[in-house]
Amino acid sequence: MRRPIFAANWKMNKTIAETEEYIESFAELLIGTEHYPEIVLIPPYTALAYAGKILDSMGIGKQALLGAQNLFWEDVGAFTGEVCAEMLVDAGCQYVIIGHSERRQYFLETDEIVNKKIAAALKSGLKPIICIGETKSERQGGKTFAVLESQIKESLDFFESNDLSDIVIAYEPVWAIGTGLTATPEQAQEAHLFIRNQIKNMFGSDLADNIRIQYGGSVKPDNVKTIMIQPDVDGSLVGGASLDPDSFFRIISFDRK
Ligand code: PGA
Repeated sequence: MRRPIFAANWKMNKTIAETEEYIESFAELLIGTEHYPEIVLIPPYTALAYAGKILDSMGIGKQALLGAQNLFWEDVGAFTGEVCAEMLVDAGCQYVIIGHSERRQYFLETDEIVNKKIAAALKSGLKPIICIGETKSERQGGKTFAVLESQIKESLDFFESNDLSDIVIAYEPVWAIGTGLTATPEQAQEAHLFIRNQIKNMFGSDLADNIRIQYGGSVKPDNVKTIMIQPDVDGSLVGGASLDPDSFFRIISFDRK
């Protein structure tokens, strides 16, 4: 009932030429195969518009959608270095990552900022992929659920359930991102269920039953299946292992049986 969504977060990787090469190889793998999950490619800003063109010219623009890694919450104006939601839509994006732990850690993004960015994205028709997750010391200190609860409450403050039908939540334990450490399937399922219940408490069962919750953190072709078959896991936000088209393709097409 919930269609899984797999997103390739390239972070600060790939030039325009490398983006073109990737999409050409990915298209060769994708064309002619039937793919049930929704697929989103998330290149850096500089390659976005061109990536959109290549996806279309390779004939996979409907199968592989485009997303951005960040946005600014204002509509227009004197904000040197920032990019607004409208510009992302103009570049061909349908999705945008908000509140990635690297943004929180290196650029001091708070849940309040995440909240404003979600509002800006939704206003322009972009679907936010909202990242939450605990650090290693928070997990070791038994604070995982408290952290998730406050991130969800503060990020989604002021919204009504009707506003949120297009959001995706990415549960990304910070200790698992880029480290090679993956949450066990049990840890992932437990956190996802907690998040779903939190959404239910705040916005009701309709939204909770339909919202997609991705897992992210060192997902690779050889560990994807055990996590994805958990009942509350609806796809993945993939970093390192999405940089190679073959590896990302193996992730999205893991054997579901
Ligand atoms: P990773 O990154 O797959 O390299 O751990 C995931 C992410 O940051 O979204």
